[in-house]
Amino acid sequence: MKEKEYKELIKKHVVPKDVGYFLNSKEGRYQNNFYINFFSKIRNDVKILNIGCGTGSDAVILFNRGFHDITGIDINREFLKVARKRVPKCTFKYADVYDLPFSDEQFDVITIIATNEFIDAKRAFMECSRVLKKGGLMYFENFNRLINNDLRKIPFLGKAVKSSDNYHTYYHGQIKKIAKKNRLKIYKMGMFTGNAISDKPLLSRIFYSIISIGGLYKIFAPAQYYFARKV
Ligand SMILES: C[S@@+](CC[C@H](N)C(=O)[O-])C[C@H]1O[C@@H](n2cnc3c(N)ncnc32)[C@H](O)[C@@H]1O
Repeated sequence: MKEKEYKELIKKHVVPKDVGYFLNSKEGRYQNNFYINFFSKIRNDVKILNIGCGTGSDAVILFNRGFHDITGIDINREFLKVARKRVPKCTFKYADVYDLPFSDEQFDVITIIATNEFIDAKRAFMECSRVLKKGGLMYFENFNRLINNDLRKIPFLGKAVKSSDNYHTYYHGQIKKIAKKNRLKIYKMGMFTGNAISDKPLLSRIFYSIISIGGLYKIFAPAQYYFARKV
């Protein structure tokens, strides 16, 4: 999506200040552009489940890209109210990711955007895999433990990363294992480094920390992204 197009989209849909900050931030823009461009390669009649839909920011973007069969779930009723107003043609349900109110193998695509850090992937992936069709696609993110927690302990360099102590973070190997156990085969991964996309997460993260002059500029906890297929 072009920068101008993106700005128009944001302008058209009111983003509440409290939750809209990320979407409007530099990191948020790159992140959204990235997955929107990816989704533009997928047939748009797919049935999408958006886990942790919040106020509908993901649904707004996907809907405007031509995906119309979108169901968002969240445990925050206030957010759901906003989401319903913003994208009335999508379905928004109050539901917990650990106990999804759907029968098995219903969805072609599952997206977990800016939400995996709030949930326990071990339990969540089990449920997601259950409702995902065989061959279906799951997109999720992970606050890499090595990059967000371990790197932070290094004096000077680590200061550039905001604290992730309150988030669920996993090493790449851990998340891969959790995915595999739930028949989710990761076929593509990379990282949002603040204002760029890289398929060399650790190297780019270190480089990014160095150019951040030891923490003068703190970056939002950088997330890794993953695409997996249910096998
Ligand atoms: C940072 S928001 C992301 C919202 C949206 N995906 C976006 O990118 O704008 C994380 C969302 O996850 C939801 N959430 C947290 N735990 C959850 C759970 N167990 N089941 C469903 N949603 C959950 C929160 O209520 C919140 O709306």
